Amino acid sequence: MEVVIVPDAKAGGELIAEAMAQLLRRKPDALLGVATGSTPLPVYEALAAKVRSEAVDTSRARIAQLDEYVGLPAEHPESYRSVLRREVLEPLGIGMDGFMGPDGTAEDVRAACEAYDRALSAAGGVDLQLLGIGTDGHIGFNEPCSSLASRTRIKTLTEQTRIDNARFFDDDIEQVPHHVITQGIGTILEARHLVLLATGAGKADAIAATVEGPVAAICPATALQLHPHATVVVDEAAASELELAGYYRYSYAHKPDWQGI
Ligand code: F6R
Repeated sequence: MEVVIVPDAKAGGELIAEAMAQLLRRKPDALLGVATGSTPLPVYEALAAKVRSEAVDTSRARIAQLDEYVGLPAEHPESYRSVLRREVLEPLGIGMDGFMGPDGTAEDVRAACEAYDRALSAAGGVDLQLLGIGTDGHIGFNEPCSSLASRTRIKTLTEQTRIDNARFFDDDIEQVPHHVITQGIGTILEARHLVLLATGAGKADAIAATVEGPVAAICPATALQLHPHATVVVDEAAASELELAGYYRYSYAHKPDWQGI
């Protein structure tokens, strides 16, 4: 995988937004896989700025959701569908007809998971999947010891992830759902380009394990090592535990083509 160390979250956002813009110029109806949480916000802000300045046209772009809480009504402000509508679709000028996501309120959740997995393939697959990472190494909501071949399915959140996410629910962990639908690791690995963004010292251990540790389900993000086109973008703080940080800097500075990702 390629590791890119950027000075701060804003620079990471700019770099990834430019990669998305390049993709949309090449393929205007590209399917962008998006994550929620705090980390990707600078990406969405930078891409929205490009849309406003007409540096990129999103009129045919499509957005695919990575994961969703089970049981939260779609209109709940913290359902990921609502969050993505607010933070991604509206700022990018993409309507709900360009959006696909799993149904977290389905009576038959298992069938909804399978239907979403099939829908992603039927849509031609995800062109670029943006990922965050949990402090425990989760991607999507594939918590530690998720099968590296898993498909979209229901998962139970760890206590730590519920604590981490309580900030979106009035700091009240009781309001954080226990279950989520998440694209599986096998599903995520089918995207053509994986881009993981991590910022802040709290992610440093998870990033070191992801990039330099052995591939192991205990740290689900290590599955990125199996992907032919995976990019890990980290700020200085998240890069602070990387043994080969100097090499990653050198390697990126001597990239033979454009200084993008
Ligand atoms: C959310 C998701 C999660 C987050 C992760 C990090 O859709 O897929 O894997 O990316 O929990 O969250 P933040 O960015 O808030 O630290």
